Order: sequence, then structure tokens, then C-alpha cells
Amino acid sequence: MNTKLITLLAFIGMLSSCQFKSRDVGDSDGGFDEKYRPQYHFTPPGQWMNDPNGMVYYEGEYHLFYQHYPDSNVWGPMHWGHAVSTNMINWEHLPIALYPDSLGYIFSGSAVIDWKNSSGLGSEENPPMVAIFTYHDPIGEKKGNIDFQTQGIAFSLDKGRTWTKYENNPVLSNPGIRDFRDPKVSWFEEFNKWIMILAVKDHVEIYSSDDLIKWQKESEFGQNIGAHGGVWECPDLFQLTDNKGVKRWVMLVSINPGGPQGGSATQYFIGGFNGKSFTPEDSLTRWIDYGADNYAGVTWSNVPENDGRRLFLGWMSNWQYSQVVPTYKWRSAMTLPRELTLKNGRLYSYPVLEFNAKIEVGENLTQDKYVLEDITFGLSMDVETVQPFELTFNSSSDDVLKVGFNGEQFYLDRTNAGIDSFHPDFAAIHFAPKTMSDRLKVELFVDTSSIEIFINGGEIVITDLIFPISPYNELTLSGVKPQDTKYFRIKL
Ligand code: FRU
Repeated sequence: MNTKLITLLAFIGMLSSCQFKSRDVGDSDGGFDEKYRPQYHFTPPGQWMNDPNGMVYYEGEYHLFYQHYPDSNVWGPMHWGHAVSTNMINWEHLPIALYPDSLGYIFSGSAVIDWKNSSGLGSEENPPMVAIFTYHDPIGEKKGNIDFQTQGIAFSLDKGRTWTKYENNPVLSNPGIRDFRDPKVSWFEEFNKWIMILAVKDHVEIYSSDDLIKWQKESEFGQNIGAHGGVWECPDLFQLTDNKGVKRWVMLVSINPGGPQGGSATQYFIGGFNGKSFTPEDSLTRWIDYGADNYAGVTWSNVPENDGRRLFLGWMSNWQYSQVVPTYKWRSAMTLPRELTLKNGRLYSYPVLEFNAKIEVGENLTQDKYVLEDITFGLSMDVETVQPFELTFNSSSDDVLKVGFNGEQFYLDRTNAGIDSFHPDFAAIHFAPKTMSDRLKVELFVDTSSIEIFINGGEIVITDLIFPISPYNELTLSGVKPQDTKYFRIKL
């Protein structure tokens, strides 16, 4: 998000906090069954949420922290909300982990386990969990300064339950640039150091450290490559072995605005990394998702080697309209957790294996029309050759959602899919490019107010919000045989 917008939003946040009196995220009074509340996606118990933060696996728990404003359902002074899960699907909400302090709001960042206690903040017997985040100083910003974003750290010695801010924050001061944020830190054994990738306006910067406290700048990347329709945010850098056994590096960079559907989106680069600088293999602009609603996604750190997966989660919204979507008690959900893999030069993302436990055995359709009884469901289809097809979801309130392939491109049409008057850019058709193969497997998951489409195991993905006035209750197939289509209930 750009910083002028941030000031405006903070102001709106202050105004609306008058209406929504302060309540802690821990004491949700709702049953999570409000209209449009997703049932199998992560949502905060109440109030505002944006980016996933501090994703780290430790002692059997996946930690998810998130940008959170507990006093309002729109963006405001940022805190880190917190939840844990053993499977990335069912979450236990925990108290807020990090509160704003005299150095500023707590913007996005990451968390690591400092196994060797390089920071000295714990011990080797009890290694600290260290959060590395951006301090955004609203007072400095208001004064017209440009150095109001710095990087700070905090640590926990009790599995993320309580946190202490490092006494000499910030650990990385601002060199005089307005947008300087969202540190993603990883330990890379082969280089024997901590690497931080940071979003800096129109590029990323790479820093290294031995102790998570003293950081040294190594390189910059991105000024003349990739999409530049907006500010760069929330980067990530990791290695993946592709389907030919070749190790390559992947860099994720979120951008806002300038995404393929307008507003926010996440691009990625494939290349090499030598511990100091990243070299892309080509100059293609690639998108992790062609929907409008997958932003600021990054990956979990410290996933055990014997698991070895690269696990991703994104914020299922778009800065264009995230603050005015028709949900009030809470705002925003995360995407399904996804595993990232590299195949034939593309980054695939596909729901994590753990999600299978949620899917009930499916039933094949027997005719072109099917009555939908659930507000959460999945569909899977096999299409022999790439031929045009269309799925139409209708509701008794005349909502029509269309998903299809027109011979050239996939599309999701939400121009008439439900409530959309809250923002002029919401009602739109979103297009995605074809796959590399002629055979298609299409899987989609609907959860009350979202749809995620995975084509050929995640080669092409479309994630979109939808707000049908009443739930879709009829599905019509065209160009797809009913016997090749399966309907799944999702266990809640
Ligand atoms: C991305 C972002 C980050 C920033 C955070 C503030 O959505 O703008 O760049 O750290 O949100 O909430």
C-alpha cells in the first residue's frame, strides 16, 4: 500500500474506531456463522485483517501472525494478530502478539527460529522465535519525514505466546526512502547467514546478517524488470527443486496497484541466488494467481527438512476494495494454504495435502443441471481436450457467476455474481492464460464468499471474492460432460 494511502486509511481507521469500540481479538462473540463468513478459510475473530505475517513452523505448530487493527473493521494502527494450527486449516486464535509502540505501527514481516541463538536473545537449549517486522512511524510520516519506516525485531521464548521487543530497535534504519518495508528473513545454510529481502519502493534489497541484529546491504534487484504499475511489497526468496531435478530460486514480489486484474497482485521471478544477489533467468512477468484476491502472500519458514514443502498463504482481498466489502464484524480472509512447486518454468500453487481431510468423497453429476445445497463445496472436472466450456452458478436472487474457458483464455465473470455496488472495480471479468497442456483438470472450491480455481494442479490459479445475495443454488454445465464432473462437500 502506498504511504499517502496509509495516512488516509489511518484517518478513516480513527474515525471508524469511534463506532467500533475497542475489543480484543481474543473475545469473539460471534459463532463465525455471519453472512459471508468463510467456513474453512482463516478469518480473524473480529475487525480488520490484511497481510499474513511471521509464518513459521515450530514444535508441531504452524504460526500465523497477521496485520490486524483490533479497534475497527478498516485499516488502522497495525498490530500482529496471532493464531496457531497443526494442519494450516483449523486455527486456534491467540492473543495479539505485537502492539504498536513509540517507534510506530507494526507492519508486515516474518519470523524465524534462531536455532543457534545467533542473536543471543535466547539460548541453544531454548532457541528464540524472532520476529522481524517494519516499524511504521505515523508521527514522522505526518511531519513530512521520509525515513519513517525502519526494521525492528522482537523475540519469544515460549512458542510465540509472549513477546519482548528488542531493546535497541530499530535494527535496520531508514536510508532516506519512503517505502522501505516487509522484511522476509531466512537462514540459508549453504551461505551460513541470515538473508533479508526487503521491499523498497520499486525494487527489492537484499541484506545479510550473522545475528539478526547487524545487517549489511548486499544488492538490489528489480528496478528495470517485472511489473511496475505500483509499489513493491511483501517479497520472499527461496529455493525449489523443479520437476527436472534442477535447483532454482524463486522470488515473490507483491505489487499494488498494477496487478493483472487491477489493484493488488503477486508476481514472481525465477533465477539464481549466490548469497548476495539474485539473477533472473529471463525478463518475463509472471503472476502467481490471475484472480483479483490473492495478495501479500509469502511462505512458512522452518518447515522441517523431512517435510520439505514450500507452503504459502496469501491475503484473500485487494486494496482496491478490501475496506468496503460487505462484511462488518470482521474483514478479510486468507487464501487456502498452498504448496508451491516448480514445473516446466512455472510456479504451481495447489491446496496443501492437509486440505484433503476436509473433502468428502465426491459424487459424479448425472445431468447438466445440478442443485447446490451447500454454501461450501468443491468441484472437479476432467476435460479431455482444451475446448470451450462454461459453468454457471445461479442463485434465487438472480446472481450469476460464470467460470469457463473460451478457447483462448480461462475466465471468471463476477459482473453479475452478487453484491458489487461497494466499489466500481469489483464487478469484472478476470481472464487467465491457457495452460501448457491440452488436457485439463479443473478444481474449484467455494467457501461462502470466495472461489479458488486450480487448473492442472495449480498451473493456473484464479482466486476471487464473491458476495451472492443468496447462496448459489443451481449449477449448469456447458461443454463439460456431467460424468466427468464431481461435486464435493467440504467438512466443516
Ligand atoms: C501490503 C502492505 C505492506 C505493509 C502492510 C501495512 O498489503 O501495504 O507493504 O507492511 O500492508 O498494513
